[in-house]
Amino acid sequence: MQQSIADIRKEYSALSLKASEVDANPVDQFLTWFDMALNAEIMEPNAMTLSTIEENKPTSRIVLLKGVENEQFVFYTNYNSSKGKQMAISPYVSLNFFWPELERQVRIEGIVKKVDADTSDAYFKSRPRGSQIGAWVSPQSESIESREILEKRLEEIELKFKDKEVERPPHWGGYSVKPTIVEFWQGRPSRLHDRIRYTFSESKNWKIERLAP
Ligand SMILES: Cc1cc2nc3c(=O)[nH]c(=O)nc-3n(C[C@H](O)[C@H](O)[C@H](O)COP(=O)(O)O)c2cc1C
Repeated sequence: MQQSIADIRKEYSALSLKASEVDANPVDQFLTWFDMALNAEIMEPNAMTLSTIEENKPTSRIVLLKGVENEQFVFYTNYNSSKGKQMAISPYVSLNFFWPELERQVRIEGIVKKVDADTSDAYFKSRPRGSQIGAWVSPQSESIESREILEKRLEEIELKFKDKEVERPPHWGGYSVKPTIVEFWQGRPSRLHDRIRYTFSESKNWKIERLAP
Protein backbone atom coordinates (compact mmCIF):
# COMPACT_ATOMS: atom_id res chain seq x y z
CA MET A 1 0.00 0.00 0.00
CA GLN A 2 1.35 3.46 -0.94
CA GLN A 3 0.09 5.23 2.18
CA SER A 4 -0.94 3.99 5.60
CA ILE A 5 -4.68 4.40 6.12
CA ALA A 6 -4.00 5.93 9.54
CA ASP A 7 -2.04 8.74 7.87
CA ILE A 8 -4.92 9.88 5.67
CA ARG A 9 -6.26 13.10 7.12
CA LYS A 10 -7.70 16.34 5.86
CA GLU A 11 -8.07 19.66 7.61
CA TYR A 12 -11.50 21.23 7.03
CA SER A 13 -11.55 24.99 6.72
CA ALA A 14 -13.78 26.09 3.85
CA LEU A 15 -17.07 27.00 5.54
CA SER A 16 -18.85 27.38 8.88
CA LEU A 17 -22.36 26.91 10.29
CA LYS A 18 -24.12 28.92 12.99
CA ALA A 19 -27.48 28.18 14.63
CA SER A 20 -28.41 31.82 14.02
CA GLU A 21 -27.95 31.36 10.25
CA VAL A 22 -29.93 28.19 9.66
CA ASP A 23 -33.54 27.97 8.50
CA ALA A 24 -36.24 27.27 11.11
CA ASN A 25 -37.20 24.17 9.10
CA PRO A 26 -34.56 21.48 8.49
CA VAL A 27 -36.03 20.48 5.12
CA ASP A 28 -35.62 24.06 3.86
CA GLN A 29 -32.10 24.06 5.27
CA PHE A 30 -31.47 20.75 3.47
CA LEU A 31 -32.68 22.22 0.17
CA THR A 32 -30.35 25.21 0.60
CA TRP A 33 -27.40 22.89 1.16
CA PHE A 34 -28.53 20.62 -1.66
CA ASP A 35 -28.49 23.56 -4.11
CA MET A 36 -24.97 24.34 -2.95
CA ALA A 37 -24.00 20.69 -3.52
CA LEU A 38 -25.43 20.91 -7.05
CA ASN A 39 -23.48 24.12 -7.71
CA ALA A 40 -20.31 22.49 -6.37
CA GLU A 41 -20.73 19.81 -9.07
CA ILE A 42 -20.39 17.00 -6.56
CA MET A 43 -20.65 13.59 -8.21
CA GLU A 44 -24.14 12.24 -7.46
CA PRO A 45 -25.04 14.71 -4.69
CA ASN A 46 -28.35 12.80 -4.34
CA ALA A 47 -26.61 9.54 -3.40
CA MET A 48 -27.42 8.78 0.24
CA THR A 49 -26.78 5.95 2.65
CA LEU A 50 -30.05 4.36 3.73
CA SER A 51 -29.88 2.35 6.94
CA THR A 52 -32.61 -0.07 7.91
CA ILE A 53 -32.99 -2.67 10.65
CA GLU A 54 -32.89 -6.44 10.20
CA GLU A 55 -33.65 -8.36 13.40
CA ASN A 56 -32.34 -5.51 15.62
CA LYS A 57 -29.19 -5.11 13.53
CA PRO A 58 -28.51 -2.11 11.29
CA THR A 59 -27.71 -2.59 7.60
CA SER A 60 -26.86 0.11 5.06
CA ARG A 61 -26.65 0.73 1.34
CA ILE A 62 -26.67 3.69 -1.05
CA VAL A 63 -29.88 4.75 -2.81
CA LEU A 64 -30.67 7.90 -4.79
CA LEU A 65 -32.82 10.70 -3.45
CA LYS A 66 -35.43 11.36 -6.14
CA GLY A 67 -37.34 14.23 -4.61
CA VAL A 68 -38.28 16.17 -1.52
CA GLU A 69 -42.07 16.34 -1.37
CA ASN A 70 -44.31 17.50 1.48
CA GLU A 71 -41.18 17.82 3.63
CA GLN A 72 -40.35 14.16 3.02
CA PHE A 73 -37.37 12.51 1.33
CA VAL A 74 -38.34 10.22 -1.55
CA PHE A 75 -36.42 7.29 -3.07
CA TYR A 76 -37.33 4.31 -5.26
CA THR A 77 -36.53 0.65 -5.02
CA ASN A 78 -37.84 -2.90 -5.17
CA TYR A 79 -40.48 -3.51 -2.49
CA ASN A 80 -39.45 -7.20 -2.30
CA SER A 81 -35.75 -6.42 -1.79
CA SER A 82 -34.03 -7.00 1.54
CA LYS A 83 -34.49 -3.33 2.46
CA GLY A 84 -38.14 -3.45 1.36
CA LYS A 85 -38.81 -6.40 3.66
CA GLN A 86 -36.91 -4.72 6.52
CA MET A 87 -38.88 -1.46 6.16
CA ALA A 88 -42.15 -3.40 6.14
CA ILE A 89 -41.26 -4.73 9.59
CA SER A 90 -39.55 -1.63 11.04
CA PRO A 91 -40.28 1.81 9.54
CA TYR A 92 -37.41 3.51 11.41
CA VAL A 93 -34.66 4.44 8.96
CA SER A 94 -31.74 6.82 8.67
CA LEU A 95 -30.35 8.64 5.66
CA ASN A 96 -26.85 10.06 5.36
CA PHE A 97 -25.38 12.42 2.79
CA PHE A 98 -21.63 13.16 2.56
CA TRP A 99 -20.60 16.04 0.32
CA PRO A 100 -16.78 16.05 0.59
CA GLU A 101 -16.20 19.04 -1.69
CA LEU A 102 -18.21 21.16 0.77
CA GLU A 103 -16.86 19.33 3.86
CA ARG A 104 -20.46 18.58 4.81
CA GLN A 105 -22.57 15.72 6.13
CA VAL A 106 -26.34 15.60 6.67
CA ARG A 107 -27.83 12.92 8.92
CA ILE A 108 -31.55 12.26 8.85
CA GLU A 109 -33.60 9.92 11.04
CA GLY A 110 -37.22 9.34 10.30
CA ILE A 111 -40.17 7.13 9.59
CA VAL A 112 -40.62 5.59 6.17
CA LYS A 113 -43.76 4.67 4.24
CA LYS A 114 -44.58 3.77 0.65
CA VAL A 115 -45.60 6.64 -1.63
CA ASP A 116 -48.96 6.30 -3.37
CA ALA A 117 -49.20 4.30 -6.61
CA ASP A 118 -49.81 7.40 -8.77
CA THR A 119 -46.56 8.98 -7.56
CA SER A 120 -44.63 5.78 -8.28
CA ASP A 121 -46.28 5.48 -11.71
CA ALA A 122 -45.38 9.06 -12.61
CA TYR A 123 -41.75 8.59 -11.62
CA PHE A 124 -41.52 5.18 -13.32
CA LYS A 125 -42.77 6.74 -16.57
CA SER A 126 -39.98 9.35 -16.41
CA ARG A 127 -37.23 6.70 -16.22
CA PRO A 128 -35.20 5.61 -19.27
CA ARG A 129 -36.66 2.48 -20.91
CA GLY A 130 -33.56 0.44 -19.94
CA SER A 131 -34.14 1.19 -16.25
CA GLN A 132 -37.85 0.39 -16.60
CA ILE A 133 -36.99 -3.01 -18.09
CA GLY A 134 -34.33 -3.56 -15.42
CA ALA A 135 -36.95 -3.16 -12.69
CA TRP A 136 -38.77 -6.21 -14.14
CA VAL A 137 -35.60 -8.22 -14.75
CA SER A 138 -33.93 -8.10 -11.34
CA PRO A 139 -35.27 -10.04 -8.35
CA GLN A 140 -33.33 -7.57 -6.21
CA SER A 141 -31.46 -9.03 -3.21
CA GLU A 142 -32.22 -12.66 -4.18
CA SER A 143 -29.41 -15.13 -4.69
CA ILE A 144 -28.99 -15.97 -8.40
CA GLU A 145 -26.79 -18.61 -9.97
CA SER A 146 -25.23 -16.54 -12.71
CA ARG A 147 -25.38 -13.31 -14.68
CA GLU A 148 -26.72 -15.33 -17.62
CA ILE A 149 -30.00 -15.74 -15.73
CA LEU A 150 -30.41 -11.95 -15.78
CA GLU A 151 -29.48 -11.76 -19.46
CA LYS A 152 -32.02 -14.45 -20.37
CA ARG A 153 -34.70 -12.69 -18.36
CA LEU A 154 -33.78 -9.39 -20.04
CA GLU A 155 -34.48 -10.96 -23.43
CA GLU A 156 -37.84 -12.29 -22.21
CA ILE A 157 -38.92 -8.94 -20.75
CA GLU A 158 -37.81 -7.03 -23.85
CA LEU A 159 -39.95 -9.39 -25.92
CA LYS A 160 -42.92 -9.03 -23.55
CA PHE A 161 -42.89 -5.22 -23.89
CA LYS A 162 -41.81 -5.06 -27.54
CA ASP A 163 -43.38 -1.95 -29.13
CA LYS A 164 -45.28 -1.33 -25.88
CA GLU A 165 -44.94 1.04 -22.98
CA VAL A 166 -43.26 -0.68 -20.02
CA GLU A 167 -45.67 -0.65 -17.10
CA ARG A 168 -44.46 -0.30 -13.53
CA PRO A 169 -43.91 -3.66 -11.85
CA PRO A 170 -46.17 -3.97 -8.78
CA HIS A 171 -43.12 -4.80 -6.67
CA TRP A 172 -41.28 -1.56 -7.57
CA GLY A 173 -42.01 1.93 -6.26
CA GLY A 174 -41.20 4.77 -3.94
CA TYR A 175 -40.80 5.38 -0.25
CA SER A 176 -40.90 8.68 1.59
CA VAL A 177 -39.05 9.40 4.82
CA LYS A 178 -40.68 11.84 7.24
CA PRO A 179 -37.78 13.28 9.25
CA THR A 180 -37.78 13.39 13.05
CA ILE A 181 -34.10 14.34 13.53
CA VAL A 182 -31.89 16.17 11.04
CA GLU A 183 -28.27 17.09 11.72
CA PHE A 184 -26.10 19.37 9.60
CA TRP A 185 -22.34 18.88 10.00
CA GLN A 186 -19.78 21.32 8.71
CA GLY A 187 -16.09 20.41 8.88
CA ARG A 188 -13.95 22.99 10.76
CA PRO A 189 -10.25 23.31 11.66
CA SER A 190 -8.70 21.20 14.47
CA ARG A 191 -11.68 18.78 14.38
CA LEU A 192 -13.84 21.41 16.12
CA HIS A 193 -16.61 20.95 13.62
CA ASP A 194 -19.99 22.68 13.61
CA ARG A 195 -23.01 20.46 14.28
CA ILE A 196 -26.55 21.79 14.28
CA ARG A 197 -29.30 19.31 15.13
CA TYR A 198 -33.05 19.70 14.62
CA THR A 199 -35.36 17.48 16.68
CA PHE A 200 -39.09 17.33 16.03
CA SER A 201 -41.58 17.30 18.86
CA GLU A 202 -45.33 17.69 18.39
CA SER A 203 -45.45 20.49 20.98
CA LYS A 204 -42.36 22.48 20.07
CA ASN A 205 -42.19 21.86 16.35
CA TRP A 206 -38.45 21.86 15.49
CA LYS A 207 -35.96 22.33 18.32
CA ILE A 208 -32.55 23.55 17.13
CA GLU A 209 -29.37 22.95 19.13
CA ARG A 210 -25.63 22.91 18.66
CA LEU A 211 -23.81 19.63 19.42
CA ALA A 212 -20.20 19.16 20.41
CA PRO A 213 -18.17 17.70 17.57
C1 LIG B 1 -24.62 5.29 -6.40
C2 LIG B 1 -25.63 4.20 -6.14
C3 LIG B 1 -26.97 4.48 -6.30
C4 LIG B 1 -27.93 3.48 -6.05
N1 LIG B 1 -29.25 3.81 -6.14
C5 LIG B 1 -30.19 2.88 -5.84
C6 LIG B 1 -31.58 3.24 -5.83
O1 LIG B 1 -31.96 4.41 -6.02
N2 LIG B 1 -32.47 2.25 -5.55
C7 LIG B 1 -32.08 0.97 -5.28
O2 LIG B 1 -32.94 0.13 -5.06
N3 LIG B 1 -30.78 0.62 -5.24
C8 LIG B 1 -29.83 1.54 -5.52
N4 LIG B 1 -28.49 1.21 -5.46
C9 LIG B 1 -28.13 -0.20 -5.13
C10 LIG B 1 -28.22 -0.40 -3.59
O3 LIG B 1 -27.07 0.17 -2.96
C11 LIG B 1 -28.33 -1.89 -3.20
O4 LIG B 1 -27.28 -2.62 -3.76
C12 LIG B 1 -29.66 -2.51 -3.65
O5 LIG B 1 -30.74 -1.60 -3.52
C13 LIG B 1 -29.97 -3.79 -2.87
O6 LIG B 1 -30.04 -3.47 -1.49
P1 LIG B 1 -30.73 -4.46 -0.44
O7 LIG B 1 -30.32 -5.86 -0.83
O8 LIG B 1 -30.20 -4.05 0.90
O9 LIG B 1 -32.23 -4.27 -0.54
C14 LIG B 1 -27.52 2.18 -5.66
C15 LIG B 1 -26.15 1.92 -5.48
C16 LIG B 1 -25.22 2.92 -5.70
C17 LIG B 1 -23.77 2.61 -5.43
